[in-house]
Amino acid sequence: MEVLEAIKTRRSIRRYKTTPVDDKTLEIVLEAARWAPSWTNTQCWRFIVVRDGNVKAELANALSENNAATDAIRNAPITIVACAELGKSGFRHGEQSTDKGDWYMFDVGLAMQNLVLVAHSLGLGTVHVGAFDAKKAASILEVPEGFCVVSMTPLGYPDQEPKPRLRKELSEIVFYDKYGVK
Ligand SMILES: Cc1cc2nc3c(=O)[nH]c(=O)nc-3n(C[C@H](O)[C@H](O)[C@H](O)COP(=O)(O)O)c2cc1C
Repeated sequence: MEVLEAIKTRRSIRRYKTTPVDDKTLEIVLEAARWAPSWTNTQCWRFIVVRDGNVKAELANALSENNAATDAIRNAPITIVACAELGKSGFRHGEQSTDKGDWYMFDVGLAMQNLVLVAHSLGLGTVHVGAFDAKKAASILEVPEGFCVVSMTPLGYPDQEPKPRLRKELSEIVFYDKYGVK
């Protein structure tokens, strides 16, 4: 699938078939994340592939109340949880390089977007999930000190075909030469 087509046709998928995802396919999806760019190539990301039904159920319980992705985390064949090593991205010799602090959210976001796009190109569904108790998720997954849980996504074959959600027009979000100049 061509990149722009993948970007434009990907949808957040919240209903999944029970069809399993084979290891080879999973590896391709993880490879896409692995090849994302990162701050001075620090690659602060770590990925936990969860297939165990009990662990998925515990993670689903860590989602925010009424989170639309709760059943997807519980029922999809796989949940991939993205973690980050803290104090690496955005740092040079242990000092913050910018006024934005730790850039792990940015790097993990890039990796996860690579992952979801390639998953989509293979006919798989995903949804970025960010609204959950990350400390609770870290405890469930025994994530060590110095790392945190950033996001997760179910991974499996879609059992729905959602309509595209509207996007702002370019005229609303693009400026030329100075902020606000159209
Ligand atoms: C950082 C981030 C966090 C998100 N968290 C959740 C979430 O907790 N639950 C959920 O159902 N969807 C979540 N979403 C999915 C968005 O709602 C979805 O991407 C948006 O509505 C656009 O729809 P689309 O992905 O189908 O284009 C999240 C998306 C992003 C990028």
